[in-house]
Amino acid sequence: MTQDELKKAAAIAALDYVEDGMIVGVGTGSTVNHFIDGLAGIKERIAGAVSSSEASARRLEAHGIPILDLNDITDLPVYVDGADEIDAGFCMIKGGGGALTREKIVAAVARRFICICDTSKKVACLGRFPLPVEIIPMARAYVERELAGIGGRPELRDGFVTDNGNLILDVHGLMITSPRALETELNQIVGVVTNGLFARRGADVLLLATPAGVERQVA
Ligand code: A5P
Repeated sequence: MTQDELKKAAAIAALDYVEDGMIVGVGTGSTVNHFIDGLAGIKERIAGAVSSSEASARRLEAHGIPILDLNDITDLPVYVDGADEIDAGFCMIKGGGGALTREKIVAAVARRFICICDTSKKVACLGRFPLPVEIIPMARAYVERELAGIGGRPELRDGFVTDNGNLILDVHGLMITSPRALETELNQIVGVVTNGLFARRGADVLLLATPAGVERQVA
């Protein structure tokens, strides 16, 4: 199976978590794109979707799936999203697509986070994938110095502006042995909007696509 076929298998498995009348939180990325396409097949059954990015919103709209404003809803039963890395405790690095801030907001509201991945994303220790950090543009040099101070090598994501009008620093060289502590520490740096560690709010269910089938793991 190709990696894309694995992504699709994980995404289709996530449709089992969509119930009649539900509002569905939708992440961002190539794996989630398969989920959105699958959701289109059952769109009559759902109340709508909350999107974590402009890109996912465009894809949802193209399928005629109603998009709801997160501020207008009080309950979001489920959020489905991919990850760049996920560890055994279901802590994740996210933001490879640059949508980490809205992803983290929608994930915070959702009662259940369903992570859809292929096996290449499962790691023993987070940090091989450069950690995305969304920053306010005028704080770039300051935040770079602070990140270097904790042992990271930040690189500005060239020519990229987030949906919120901010920049992304991809931080190389971090061996993340305490994801919850690092997530909190990075949040304290002035000028950081969001960091791509999803540890304090990790996944609840992992649908891990392997060549032998999709494994369902529960936190
Ligand atoms: C988007 O900002 C990310 O958090 C994605 O969820 C993550 O990069 C996974 O993307 P793929 O499904 O494209 O690998």
